[in-house]
Amino acid sequence: MPTVASSALQVPQSGIRELAEMAMKMEGVLKLYFGESNVPTPEYIKRAAWKALEDGYTFYTENAGLPGLRQDLASYYRRVHAVELDPRSEIVVTGSGVQALNVAIRCALNPGDEALVLTPSWPNHSANVWMDNAVPVEIPLLLRGGRYAVDFSDLEAALTPRTRLLLYTSPSNPLGWVATEEEQEEVLSFVRGHDLWLLADEVYDRLYYRGLKPGDAAPSILRKARRDDPVIVAQSFSKTYCMTGWRIGWLVGRSDIAGKATQLNEFIVSHAPSFIQRAAQTALSEGEEELRKMLVRLRENRDFCLEALRQMPGVTVPSPDGAFYLFPKIEGLKDSFAFCRKLLEERRVGLAPGAAFGAGGEGSVRICYAAEREILEQAMERIGRFLRES
Ligand SMILES: Cc1ncc(COP(=O)(O)O)c(C=O)c1O
Repeated sequence: MPTVASSALQVPQSGIRELAEMAMKMEGVLKLYFGESNVPTPEYIKRAAWKALEDGYTFYTENAGLPGLRQDLASYYRRVHAVELDPRSEIVVTGSGVQALNVAIRCALNPGDEALVLTPSWPNHSANVWMDNAVPVEIPLLLRGGRYAVDFSDLEAALTPRTRLLLYTSPSNPLGWVATEEEQEEVLSFVRGHDLWLLADEVYDRLYYRGLKPGDAAPSILRKARRDDPVIVAQSFSKTYCMTGWRIGWLVGRSDIAGKATQLNEFIVSHAPSFIQRAAQTALSEGEEELRKMLVRLRENRDFCLEALRQMPGVTVPSPDGAFYLFPKIEGLKDSFAFCRKLLEERRVGLAPGAAFGAGGEGSVRICYAAEREILEQAMERIGRFLRES
């Protein structure tokens, strides 16, 4: 009797999904566990998808995505990040951010290799490394003086002859941490010095609160990288344009790895759906105003939740610079999954357990503050009461 491959069995279940599955069977839950807002995709993007269907975008496209979309992405990088990219050889459109991560990791790692993953981080990072029969080595960011920071001596100490990749997320899910320019430079010299690939997950780059003006992106590692650097950036339309269900993203990488990812795409999804690629072009060209409005709302939500959490007993929470999450630490918490389950069952608030985010995550919970204000108000009230009464 054949059994499921051990390489598949070794891939752990996502702790966020596990909690969410429980919540989905219940009525009246305030859902703050997933990384998405309750706001639907803006009308102008939906209309563009509809028009693309009418215009006949129902056939296969290039494995790297429509040339027009790649050209638009190159223009977008010039406008938003002041970075020059070759749309023919350095940009690959993917069927979501997670698919960009998947194909990038597939192209960077051999079976048995090790990937250093800066944690707490989205569980799909380590899971994707496992899926390649490689091994994630989780290195927690350290909280120093109210700010998370990369500990380069921990990174050095974790190196082995099998280490081939460093994976980091900025702005971070779940921390909201954003790498400083100095950290980016150090990360680059670390990978250059040790012959590693750097995979930078930048899907939250537009959800950034420290820019000179609203809508300024968090600095991309590509601003500092040279063209021949071993750098790959994973990106997505999901968060910036409220397009989580559409499944479209992209990666940027040195031409050797981008070329290979293009070819492997043929065997994974072939390409992102044709009409959705057209809608994505519209999102890039018309999305700035909606984005700025969303950022105002997100910032207000963040500040409201921060204020509420800081008044709860035993809760400490650093102020995040990006993304739409808070990751409060709860004094004495040893089992964040049990805590989230109890909160869900008794108060109908759904959070993601910190343990799901790898090393450094236990003892915290993740709250996505992209929901409507009324939902957040009720959730904060219920969490506060739960903490005081337990
Ligand atoms: C850090 C991070 N990277 C990538 C993704 C993937 O986004 P998608 O697959 O929806 O494009 C997510 C989604 O939550 C995320 O949090």
